[in-house]
Amino acid sequence: MPLGLERLFEPAEVGGQTCPNRMVLAPLTRSRAREDGVPTALMAEYYAQRSGAGLIVSEGTVVSPQGASYARVPGLYSPEQVEGWKPVVGAARSRGAIVYAQLWHVGRQAHSSAQPDRLPGWAPSAIPILSAQYRSPAGRIPFEVPRELSAEGIRGVVGQFATAARNALEAGFDGVELHGANGYLIDQFLNAGSNQRADQYGGTFTNRIRFLAEVLDALGEVIPLERVGLRLSPSSTWMDMQDPDKRGLYSAVVRLASARGLSYLHLVEPGIAGSTEAADARDTVVSSAELGALFNGPLIVTGGHTAESAAARIEAGTADLVGFGRLFIANPDLPFRFQTGAELEPLRREGLYAGGAAGYTDYPHHPDNPHSTRKEDPLCALSTP
Ligand code: PHB
Repeated sequence: MPLGLERLFEPAEVGGQTCPNRMVLAPLTRSRAREDGVPTALMAEYYAQRSGAGLIVSEGTVVSPQGASYARVPGLYSPEQVEGWKPVVGAARSRGAIVYAQLWHVGRQAHSSAQPDRLPGWAPSAIPILSAQYRSPAGRIPFEVPRELSAEGIRGVVGQFATAARNALEAGFDGVELHGANGYLIDQFLNAGSNQRADQYGGTFTNRIRFLAEVLDALGEVIPLERVGLRLSPSSTWMDMQDPDKRGLYSAVVRLASARGLSYLHLVEPGIAGSTEAADARDTVVSSAELGALFNGPLIVTGGHTAESAAARIEAGTADLVGFGRLFIANPDLPFRFQTGAELEPLRREGLYAGGAAGYTDYPHHPDNPHSTRKEDPLCALSTP
Protein backbone atom coordinates (compact mmCIF):
# COMPACT_ATOMS: atom_id res chain seq x y z
CA MET A 1 0.00 0.00 0.00
CA PRO A 2 1.32 3.49 -0.78
CA LEU A 3 2.74 5.04 2.37
CA GLY A 4 0.34 7.20 4.35
CA LEU A 5 -2.89 5.65 3.08
CA GLU A 6 -3.21 3.04 5.84
CA ARG A 7 -5.78 5.00 7.81
CA LEU A 8 -8.25 4.79 4.90
CA PHE A 9 -8.29 1.03 5.25
CA GLU A 10 -8.92 0.80 8.96
CA PRO A 11 -12.39 -0.32 10.00
CA ALA A 12 -14.83 2.29 11.35
CA GLU A 13 -17.85 2.06 13.65
CA VAL A 14 -20.99 3.54 12.11
CA GLY A 15 -24.37 3.25 13.79
CA GLY A 16 -23.30 0.27 15.89
CA GLN A 17 -21.93 -1.58 12.86
CA THR A 18 -18.42 -1.97 11.53
CA CYS A 19 -17.49 -0.66 8.09
CA PRO A 20 -14.57 -2.71 6.75
CA ASN A 21 -12.80 0.45 5.56
CA ARG A 22 -13.30 4.22 5.57
CA MET A 23 -14.10 4.74 1.91
CA VAL A 24 -17.71 5.72 1.21
CA LEU A 25 -19.52 5.34 -2.10
CA ALA A 26 -21.18 8.77 -2.13
CA PRO A 27 -24.85 9.04 -3.15
CA LEU A 28 -24.95 9.50 -6.95
CA THR A 29 -27.97 10.03 -9.17
CA ARG A 30 -27.57 7.73 -12.19
CA SER A 31 -31.18 7.40 -13.42
CA ARG A 32 -31.21 3.68 -14.27
CA ALA A 33 -34.37 2.71 -12.38
CA ARG A 34 -37.60 1.88 -14.22
CA GLU A 35 -40.01 4.73 -15.02
CA ASP A 36 -42.02 3.70 -11.93
CA GLY A 37 -38.95 4.01 -9.68
CA VAL A 38 -38.36 0.26 -9.35
CA PRO A 39 -34.64 -0.62 -9.16
CA THR A 40 -33.26 -2.76 -11.98
CA ALA A 41 -30.85 -5.68 -12.41
CA LEU A 42 -28.42 -3.24 -14.03
CA MET A 43 -28.38 -1.27 -10.77
CA ALA A 44 -27.51 -4.45 -8.84
CA GLU A 45 -24.56 -4.94 -11.19
CA TYR A 46 -23.42 -1.35 -10.68
CA TYR A 47 -23.51 -1.59 -6.89
CA ALA A 48 -21.87 -5.06 -6.91
CA GLN A 49 -18.98 -3.57 -8.87
CA ARG A 50 -18.50 -0.89 -6.18
CA SER A 51 -19.10 -3.18 -3.20
CA GLY A 52 -15.51 -2.83 -1.96
CA ALA A 53 -16.47 0.43 -0.23
CA GLY A 54 -16.75 0.44 3.55
CA LEU A 55 -20.06 2.29 3.48
CA ILE A 56 -22.38 2.54 0.49
CA VAL A 57 -24.95 5.32 0.41
CA SER A 58 -27.53 4.68 -2.29
CA GLU A 59 -28.30 7.20 -4.96
CA GLY A 60 -31.03 9.65 -3.95
CA THR A 61 -34.22 7.61 -3.50
CA VAL A 62 -37.48 9.48 -3.46
CA VAL A 63 -40.08 9.17 -0.73
CA SER A 64 -42.98 9.97 -3.09
CA PRO A 65 -43.60 10.71 -6.79
CA GLN A 66 -43.81 14.42 -5.87
CA GLY A 67 -40.33 14.11 -4.36
CA ALA A 68 -38.71 13.38 -7.74
CA SER A 69 -37.43 15.92 -10.24
CA TYR A 70 -36.15 13.57 -12.91
CA ALA A 71 -37.26 10.41 -14.65
CA ARG A 72 -35.90 7.02 -13.67
CA VAL A 73 -34.72 7.82 -10.16
CA PRO A 74 -35.58 5.00 -7.73
CA GLY A 75 -38.18 5.27 -4.99
CA LEU A 76 -39.04 3.61 -1.68
CA TYR A 77 -42.78 4.24 -1.55
CA SER A 78 -44.26 1.22 -3.37
CA PRO A 79 -44.13 -2.54 -2.63
CA GLU A 80 -42.62 -3.14 -6.10
CA GLN A 81 -39.80 -0.72 -5.30
CA VAL A 82 -39.08 -2.52 -2.01
CA GLU A 83 -38.90 -5.85 -3.86
CA GLY A 84 -36.71 -4.29 -6.55
CA TRP A 85 -34.26 -2.96 -3.98
CA LYS A 86 -33.69 -6.36 -2.29
CA PRO A 87 -31.25 -7.81 -4.88
CA VAL A 88 -29.58 -4.40 -5.27
CA VAL A 89 -28.92 -4.14 -1.52
CA GLY A 90 -27.74 -7.75 -1.49
CA ALA A 91 -25.27 -7.00 -4.27
CA ALA A 92 -24.05 -3.82 -2.55
CA ARG A 93 -23.23 -5.65 0.69
CA SER A 94 -21.66 -8.69 -0.94
CA ARG A 95 -18.16 -7.74 0.27
CA GLY A 96 -19.12 -6.57 3.75
CA ALA A 97 -20.05 -2.92 3.17
CA ILE A 98 -22.67 -1.23 5.34
CA VAL A 99 -25.49 -0.04 3.06
CA TYR A 100 -27.72 2.99 3.67
CA ALA A 101 -30.59 4.31 1.53
CA GLN A 102 -30.53 8.02 0.85
CA LEU A 103 -34.06 9.39 1.37
CA TRP A 104 -34.79 12.28 -0.97
CA HIS A 105 -37.50 14.84 -1.61
CA VAL A 106 -36.58 17.52 -4.14
CA GLY A 107 -39.27 20.05 -3.12
CA ARG A 108 -39.16 23.03 -5.47
CA GLN A 109 -36.56 21.39 -7.73
CA ALA A 110 -39.44 19.34 -9.19
CA HIS A 111 -41.03 20.39 -12.47
CA SER A 112 -44.65 19.97 -13.57
CA SER A 113 -43.56 18.35 -16.84
CA ALA A 114 -42.23 15.35 -14.89
CA GLN A 115 -44.93 15.21 -12.21
CA PRO A 116 -47.78 12.66 -12.34
CA ASP A 117 -50.37 15.44 -11.79
CA ARG A 118 -48.54 17.94 -14.10
CA LEU A 119 -48.43 20.49 -11.25
CA PRO A 120 -45.36 22.32 -9.87
CA GLY A 121 -43.43 20.96 -6.89
CA TRP A 122 -43.99 21.62 -3.20
CA ALA A 123 -41.85 23.95 -1.09
CA PRO A 124 -41.80 25.86 2.20
CA SER A 125 -42.61 29.07 0.29
CA ALA A 126 -43.79 29.94 -3.22
CA ILE A 127 -40.31 31.14 -4.25
CA PRO A 128 -38.79 29.80 -7.48
CA ILE A 129 -35.13 28.98 -8.13
CA LEU A 130 -33.73 31.79 -10.30
CA SER A 131 -29.99 31.12 -10.55
CA ALA A 132 -30.27 27.69 -12.19
CA GLN A 133 -32.46 25.88 -14.68
CA TYR A 134 -34.32 22.59 -14.72
CA ARG A 135 -32.73 19.77 -16.75
CA SER A 136 -35.65 18.69 -18.98
CA PRO A 137 -35.32 15.99 -21.66
CA ALA A 138 -35.51 18.81 -24.25
CA GLY A 139 -32.83 20.92 -22.56
CA ARG A 140 -32.62 23.50 -19.77
CA ILE A 141 -35.85 25.35 -18.92
CA PRO A 142 -36.69 27.80 -16.10
CA PHE A 143 -37.85 26.45 -12.76
CA GLU A 144 -41.47 27.20 -11.80
CA VAL A 145 -43.01 28.93 -8.82
CA PRO A 146 -43.55 26.03 -6.39
CA ARG A 147 -46.68 25.41 -4.34
CA GLU A 148 -46.42 26.34 -0.65
CA LEU A 149 -46.93 23.38 1.69
CA SER A 150 -49.72 23.76 4.25
CA ALA A 151 -49.18 22.50 7.82
CA GLU A 152 -51.22 19.45 6.84
CA GLY A 153 -49.12 19.02 3.70
CA ILE A 154 -45.99 19.10 5.86
CA ARG A 155 -47.41 16.34 8.07
CA GLY A 156 -48.04 14.31 4.93
CA VAL A 157 -44.46 14.65 3.68
CA VAL A 158 -43.08 13.83 7.15
CA GLY A 159 -45.16 10.64 7.02
CA GLN A 160 -43.73 9.81 3.58
CA PHE A 161 -40.19 9.95 5.00
CA ALA A 162 -41.16 7.55 7.81
CA THR A 163 -42.83 5.11 5.40
CA ALA A 164 -39.79 5.20 3.14
CA ALA A 165 -37.50 4.48 6.13
CA ARG A 166 -39.63 1.50 7.12
CA ASN A 167 -39.53 0.30 3.52
CA ALA A 168 -35.74 0.73 3.45
CA LEU A 169 -35.37 -1.66 6.39
CA GLU A 170 -37.70 -4.13 4.71
CA ALA A 171 -35.59 -3.93 1.54
CA GLY A 172 -32.53 -4.89 3.61
CA PHE A 173 -30.79 -1.54 4.05
CA ASP A 174 -28.83 -1.13 7.30
CA GLY A 175 -30.03 2.43 7.73
CA VAL A 176 -31.06 5.61 5.94
CA GLU A 177 -29.36 8.88 5.13
CA LEU A 178 -31.58 11.96 5.08
CA HIS A 179 -30.76 14.18 2.11
CA GLY A 180 -30.58 17.57 3.81
CA ALA A 181 -28.13 18.98 1.24
CA ASN A 182 -27.95 20.61 -2.19
CA GLY A 183 -31.05 22.77 -2.04
CA TYR A 184 -33.60 19.96 -1.81
CA LEU A 185 -36.69 20.08 0.40
CA ILE A 186 -35.05 19.81 3.84
CA ASP A 187 -32.42 22.40 2.82
CA GLN A 188 -35.19 24.64 1.44
CA PHE A 189 -36.77 24.70 4.90
CA LEU A 190 -33.41 25.47 6.55
CA ASN A 191 -32.34 28.46 4.42
CA ALA A 192 -34.08 31.81 4.86
CA GLY A 193 -33.87 32.57 1.13
CA SER A 194 -36.27 29.73 0.30
CA ASN A 195 -38.25 29.75 3.54
CA GLN A 196 -40.24 32.94 4.18
CA ARG A 197 -42.99 31.27 6.20
CA ALA A 198 -44.73 33.18 8.95
CA ASP A 199 -45.82 30.05 10.88
CA GLN A 200 -43.89 27.75 13.22
CA TYR A 201 -41.81 26.43 10.26
CA GLY A 202 -40.28 29.81 9.33
CA GLY A 203 -38.36 32.65 10.95
CA THR A 204 -35.97 31.60 13.72
CA PHE A 205 -33.41 28.81 13.35
CA THR A 206 -35.57 26.65 15.62
CA ASN A 207 -38.57 27.19 13.37
CA ARG A 208 -36.71 26.55 10.11
CA ILE A 209 -35.15 23.40 11.59
CA ARG A 210 -38.59 22.19 12.79
CA PHE A 211 -39.37 20.32 9.56
CA LEU A 212 -36.13 18.32 9.87
CA ALA A 213 -36.79 17.76 13.59
CA GLU A 214 -40.28 16.43 12.82
CA VAL A 215 -38.90 14.12 10.13
CA LEU A 216 -36.43 12.79 12.73
CA ASP A 217 -39.26 12.35 15.26
CA ALA A 218 -41.21 10.34 12.70
CA LEU A 219 -38.18 8.27 11.65
CA GLY A 220 -37.50 7.51 15.31
CA GLU A 221 -40.83 5.66 15.44
CA VAL A 222 -39.77 3.19 12.74
CA ILE A 223 -35.96 2.95 12.87
CA PRO A 224 -33.38 3.54 15.62
CA LEU A 225 -31.97 7.06 15.12
CA GLU A 226 -28.56 5.43 15.51
CA ARG A 227 -29.24 4.11 11.98
CA VAL A 228 -30.12 7.51 10.49
CA GLY A 229 -27.38 9.64 8.92
CA LEU A 230 -27.76 13.26 7.83
CA ARG A 231 -26.20 14.87 4.76
CA LEU A 232 -25.71 18.64 4.62
CA SER A 233 -23.98 21.07 2.25
CA PRO A 234 -23.37 24.03 4.58
CA SER A 235 -21.17 26.03 2.21
CA SER A 236 -23.23 25.61 -0.93
CA THR A 237 -25.39 28.29 -2.49
CA TRP A 238 -26.36 25.95 -5.37
CA MET A 239 -30.05 26.22 -6.27
CA ASP A 240 -30.35 29.58 -4.50
CA MET A 241 -29.57 28.32 -1.02
CA GLN A 242 -29.11 31.75 0.53
CA ASP A 243 -28.92 32.55 4.21
CA PRO A 244 -27.39 35.51 6.02
CA ASP A 245 -25.88 33.23 8.69
CA LYS A 246 -25.01 29.84 7.26
CA ARG A 247 -22.50 29.19 10.02
CA GLY A 248 -25.04 29.78 12.78
CA LEU A 249 -27.76 27.90 10.90
CA TYR A 250 -25.80 24.74 10.21
CA SER A 251 -24.21 24.77 13.66
CA ALA A 252 -27.74 24.63 15.09
CA VAL A 253 -28.65 21.79 12.70
CA VAL A 254 -25.57 19.79 13.65
CA ARG A 255 -26.28 20.29 17.36
CA LEU A 256 -29.75 18.81 16.80
CA ALA A 257 -28.30 15.86 14.86
CA SER A 258 -25.84 15.24 17.69
CA ALA A 259 -28.48 15.50 20.42
CA ARG A 260 -30.64 12.95 18.59
CA GLY A 261 -27.74 10.48 18.42
CA LEU A 262 -27.71 10.14 14.65
CA SER A 263 -25.55 7.53 12.98
CA TYR A 264 -23.27 9.97 11.19
CA LEU A 265 -22.93 13.47 9.82
CA HIS A 266 -22.12 13.63 6.09
CA LEU A 267 -20.85 16.98 4.83
CA VAL A 268 -20.50 18.05 1.23
CA GLU A 269 -17.20 19.91 1.15
CA PRO A 270 -17.05 23.65 0.36
CA GLY A 271 -15.57 23.25 -3.13
CA ILE A 272 -18.68 21.48 -4.43
CA ALA A 273 -21.95 23.00 -5.65
CA GLY A 274 -24.53 20.27 -6.17
CA SER A 275 -23.19 18.22 -9.05
CA THR A 276 -20.63 20.85 -10.07
CA GLU A 277 -17.55 22.58 -8.65
CA ALA A 278 -18.16 25.76 -6.66
CA ALA A 279 -16.59 28.86 -8.16
CA ASP A 280 -17.49 30.96 -5.13
CA ALA A 281 -16.33 28.46 -2.49
CA ARG A 282 -14.14 31.06 -0.82
CA ASP A 283 -17.04 33.37 -0.02
CA THR A 284 -19.33 30.85 1.55
CA VAL A 285 -17.11 28.42 3.41
CA VAL A 286 -18.44 26.91 6.59
CA SER A 287 -15.64 24.71 7.87
CA SER A 288 -16.36 20.97 7.97
CA ALA A 289 -13.92 20.60 10.84
CA GLU A 290 -15.79 23.17 12.91
CA LEU A 291 -19.18 21.55 12.27
CA GLY A 292 -17.77 18.08 12.76
CA ALA A 293 -16.50 19.08 16.18
CA LEU A 294 -20.11 19.79 17.21
CA PHE A 295 -21.22 16.28 16.26
CA ASN A 296 -20.77 13.39 18.66
CA GLY A 297 -20.31 10.61 16.11
CA PRO A 298 -18.58 9.76 12.85
CA LEU A 299 -18.03 12.55 10.33
CA ILE A 300 -18.02 11.79 6.60
CA VAL A 301 -16.69 14.41 4.18
CA THR A 302 -17.21 14.21 0.42
CA GLY A 303 -16.13 16.37 -2.47
CA GLY A 304 -13.10 16.29 -4.71
CA HIS A 305 -10.94 14.11 -2.46
CA THR A 306 -7.94 12.07 -3.56
CA ALA A 307 -6.56 9.07 -1.69
CA GLU A 308 -3.94 11.33 -0.15
CA SER A 309 -6.27 14.15 0.92
CA ALA A 310 -8.72 11.62 2.36
CA ALA A 311 -6.08 9.81 4.40
CA ALA A 312 -4.68 13.15 5.56
CA ARG A 313 -8.10 14.23 6.86
CA ILE A 314 -8.52 11.00 8.79
CA GLU A 315 -5.00 11.34 10.19
CA ALA A 316 -5.69 14.95 11.21
CA GLY A 317 -8.91 13.91 12.95
CA THR A 318 -11.06 16.21 10.79
CA ALA A 319 -12.93 13.28 9.20
CA ASP A 320 -13.64 9.66 10.08
CA LEU A 321 -14.71 8.44 6.64
CA VAL A 322 -14.41 10.03 3.20
CA GLY A 323 -16.88 9.84 0.33
CA PHE A 324 -15.92 9.49 -3.31
CA GLY A 325 -18.31 10.21 -6.17
CA ARG A 326 -16.76 10.86 -9.56
CA LEU A 327 -13.71 8.68 -8.84
CA PHE A 328 -15.99 5.77 -7.83
CA ILE A 329 -18.10 6.14 -10.99
CA ALA A 330 -15.05 5.73 -13.23
CA ASN A 331 -13.23 3.24 -10.98
CA PRO A 332 -15.56 0.59 -9.60
CA ASP A 333 -12.64 -1.03 -7.73
CA LEU A 334 -11.40 2.28 -6.30
CA PRO A 335 -10.35 0.74 -2.93
CA PHE A 336 -8.17 -1.80 -4.79
CA ARG A 337 -6.62 0.96 -6.88
CA PHE A 338 -5.88 3.13 -3.85
CA GLN A 339 -4.43 0.16 -1.98
CA THR A 340 -2.14 -0.85 -4.83
CA GLY A 341 -1.37 2.58 -6.24
CA ALA A 342 -2.85 1.47 -9.59
CA GLU A 343 -3.67 4.19 -12.10
CA LEU A 344 -7.19 5.68 -12.22
CA GLU A 345 -9.61 5.72 -15.16
CA PRO A 346 -10.91 9.14 -16.20
CA LEU A 347 -14.62 9.96 -15.92
CA ARG A 348 -16.62 10.04 -19.14
CA ARG A 349 -19.52 12.49 -19.10
CA GLU A 350 -21.79 10.59 -21.46
CA GLY A 351 -24.12 8.24 -19.61
CA LEU A 352 -23.73 10.08 -16.31
CA TYR A 353 -27.43 10.79 -15.90
CA ALA A 354 -29.23 8.47 -18.29
CA GLY A 355 -28.95 5.47 -20.54
CA GLY A 356 -28.05 1.84 -20.07
CA ALA A 357 -24.77 0.08 -19.37
CA ALA A 358 -22.63 2.58 -21.31
CA GLY A 359 -20.99 5.01 -18.91
CA TYR A 360 -22.55 3.06 -16.00
CA THR A 361 -21.41 -0.55 -15.65
CA ASP A 362 -18.82 -0.63 -18.45
CA TYR A 363 -15.95 0.90 -16.45
CA PRO A 364 -13.55 -2.05 -15.99
CA HIS A 365 -11.90 -3.33 -12.85
CA HIS A 366 -8.14 -2.93 -12.99
CA PRO A 367 -6.50 -5.81 -14.92
CA ASP A 368 -4.34 -6.65 -11.85
CA ASN A 369 -7.41 -6.91 -9.63
CA PRO A 370 -7.98 -10.63 -9.01
CA HIS A 371 -11.71 -9.95 -8.85
CA SER A 372 -11.69 -8.91 -12.49
CA THR A 373 -10.42 -12.26 -13.76
CA ARG A 374 -11.48 -14.98 -11.31
CA LYS A 375 -14.17 -16.91 -13.14
CA GLU A 376 -15.63 -18.36 -9.92
CA ASP A 377 -16.21 -14.90 -8.46
CA PRO A 378 -19.82 -13.99 -9.18
CA LEU A 379 -18.85 -10.32 -9.19
CA CYS A 380 -16.30 -11.00 -11.91
CA ALA A 381 -18.96 -11.85 -14.45
CA LEU A 382 -20.72 -8.66 -13.50
CA SER A 383 -17.68 -6.45 -13.67
CA THR A 384 -16.02 -7.54 -16.91
CA PRO A 385 -17.04 -5.12 -19.66
C1 PHB B 1 -28.24 15.84 -9.79
O1 PHB B 1 -29.01 15.02 -10.28
O2 PHB B 1 -27.61 16.66 -10.45
C2 PHB B 1 -28.07 15.87 -8.33
C3 PHB B 1 -28.82 15.00 -7.55
C4 PHB B 1 -28.68 15.04 -6.17
C5 PHB B 1 -27.81 15.92 -5.61
C6 PHB B 1 -27.06 16.76 -6.37
C7 PHB B 1 -27.19 16.74 -7.74
O3 PHB B 1 -27.69 15.96 -4.29
